Amino acid sequence: MSNKVATKNDQRPNGVPRHVAVIMDGNGRWAKLRSLPRHAGHRSGVQAVRNTVEHAAKCGISVLTLFAFSSENWRRPQDEVGRLMKLFLEALQREVDELHRNRVRLRFIGARQQLNEGLIDKIHAAELRTQANDGLTLNIAVAYGGRWDIVEAARKLAEKVASKKMSVSDLNEDVFASHLALAGLPDPDLLIRTGGEQRISNFLLWNLAYSELWFCDSLWPDFSTADFDEALSHFAHRQRRYGHTDDQVGVA
Ligand code: IPE
Ligand code: IPE
Ligand code: MG
Repeated sequence: MSNKVATKNDQRPNGVPRHVAVIMDGNGRWAKLRSLPRHAGHRSGVQAVRNTVEHAAKCGISVLTLFAFSSENWRRPQDEVGRLMKLFLEALQREVDELHRNRVRLRFIGARQQLNEGLIDKIHAAELRTQANDGLTLNIAVAYGGRWDIVEAARKLAEKVASKKMSVSDLNEDVFASHLALAGLPDPDLLIRTGGEQRISNFLLWNLAYSELWFCDSLWPDFSTADFDEALSHFAHRQRRYGHTDDQVGVA
């Protein structure tokens, strides 16, 4: 057996990650620095989303997963939450034509039943419209929490066992992962968090098990293609060992 390690999550030979996940943090602080209300920062963040999606596709990244609103963000003042939901709806309406034109496959992950009906309908329509696209897969995490995702998977599995569609002995990591929100997609190779904080904040807890982490001080509205390229270039030099020794993995 070869000592060279190959895993299903390896990046491509040219060092480009297949899947990049991003915690788009620092919008409120961006606005505060300019004496603007926090929602002005969230609005400015939409342009950074546009640039990032475009750049990801251009770099040959296959999957981009953006954290837009966490399960814990419901705890924010009602006014901020309301404005964010409005912004998501407007941005979706505005962007979906161009995303479709660029063959982007759009998906939303999270507890969507917690969103208002208008937004749920738009999300559903956008997913249906773009589902056959063969370009970048763009996942937007809204009302998403890593713990929520794991509990949902456990619930689905428990239901299958209870209704005898599955037996407990069939459960393994692959079966579990196939019940998570990102089922069928490779795990993120690279996680980028902007805004200077170095934490996961309940993002993709299961899927980030072996992701390379990159923390960037830029506030999300300032996140540029140069920042993105810097993260990608550091990623290309990381050695991913998945528990093996560096000799087993060989020269990257
Ligand atoms: C992240 O930006 C986006 C959301 C959570 C909606 P923040 O709103 O957390 O911005 P900061 O971290 O307060 O600056
Ligand atoms: C994480 O940012 C969630 C999103 C970017 C959507 P937060 O601003 O909510 O994270 P904490 O509260 O600082 O950990
Ligand atoms: Mg924040």
